[in-house]
Amino acid sequence: MPQQLSRGEPGSTKTREAYLVRARAPGKIILSGEHFVVLGASAVAMAIDFYSEVEARPNDKSGVRIGVDVPLRFLARSDRASRVIDSKGFLEPLRIAAEATLDRIDRPTQGVDLNVDCEIPIAAGLGSSASTTVAIISAVSKSLGVELGRKEIFKLAFIPEGFLHGKPSGVDQATCIYGGTIRFKRPSSVRPVKIQNDPLLLLCDTGIHHETKTLVGSVVKKSKTEKGHFRDHLAQACEISRGVLKALKTGDMEDLGSLMSLNHELLQRIGVSHPKLDRLVTAAKRAGALGAKLTGAGGGGCIVAVCSNTKSREKIARTLRRDGGTPYRISRDLHGVDAQFT
Ligand code: MEV
Repeated sequence: MPQQLSRGEPGSTKTREAYLVRARAPGKIILSGEHFVVLGASAVAMAIDFYSEVEARPNDKSGVRIGVDVPLRFLARSDRASRVIDSKGFLEPLRIAAEATLDRIDRPTQGVDLNVDCEIPIAAGLGSSASTTVAIISAVSKSLGVELGRKEIFKLAFIPEGFLHGKPSGVDQATCIYGGTIRFKRPSSVRPVKIQNDPLLLLCDTGIHHETKTLVGSVVKKSKTEKGHFRDHLAQACEISRGVLKALKTGDMEDLGSLMSLNHELLQRIGVSHPKLDRLVTAAKRAGALGAKLTGAGGGGCIVAVCSNTKSREKIARTLRRDGGTPYRISRDLHGVDAQFT
C-alpha cells in the first residue's frame, strides 16, 4: 500500500502537500535470458551506472507538461560528447507514466511539470524507457505526498512499458527499480542476486536503433510456429541463466564469459542479432574478452563484454571503437530508483 507522507515534510511549517522532487533511476543490461524471459525462462539482469533524472513539480493547472527546456541527452562518456535527439517518440510513454501515477493516487486532474534528463542511450537495449518511467512514477507520486512502494511502482510501470513495448516481461523496470543484480522469472518472482566479485564489463553501442516491440513480437510468433526448436532453445536459455547465477555467486568470470557468448549464439539462432552486433562480439573476444553478447532486445543496440582486467578492457575498448562501435565502461548500480525532496 502507498504510504501517505505527513504534511509539512520536509522541514516545512506550511500545510503544503506538493513539492519539487527529484528522482533518479539506473539503466540496465541483461546478462542472460532476454526474449526467453517473455516465454517463461529466467533472466539475469544488472542495473548500471547510466541514469535518467526527473524533476516533478505539481502546479495549479491541469495536465502533465514535460519540460522541453531540458534536452534528452545521450552522454557518450568516452568522449564526453553530447547530442540532442528528436524526443517526440520518447515523450508519449513518459506522459502516460505520469498520468497513470496521478490516476493511481486519485489526483487525475492535478497538473504537474516534469523535467526529464536521460543519459541512457535510447533504443539501445539499456532500459532508457523503463528507467525514465520508474523515475517519473516515483517523482510524481512523492511530489504529491504519496510514497509508492517498489512493488506498486513495478505494477504501474507496465502501463507505459506496455504502450511502448507491447507485452514486456517486466524485467527492465524491475532492474531499474531494485538496482543491483536480479534474477527475474516472472513479475511475482524477482530475486536479488548476491555476487562474489563485480564483473569488469564493457558496453559497446552499435549506433543502430531498434524497436523492442517488433523484435519481441517476431520471437513470440516464431515460438508458436517453431515449437520443437523453441522447446530446445528455452531449455538452453534456462540452463544458461542457471550457469550465469552460479558464476556470479562463485566469482568465476571465465564461466560467466563463456555462458554469455553461448547466450549470444542462441539469440543469433532466433534471429534477433544484427551483423554489426556479431562483428563487435567477435572483435571483443579476439581482443581478449572472456565472453560477449548482445544485451536487450537486439536488432542493433549494444553488446556487453566481460573483461579479465582493466588493461585488457582498455584494449578491447580501443578495438571496438576502431570497428565503429561506441564503448562505455560501466559499473553496477546498487540503489535502484530513488526520489528525494529538493
Ligand atoms: C528487453 O530489455 C528484454 C526483452 O526480453 C523484452 C522483455 O523482457 O520485455 C527482449
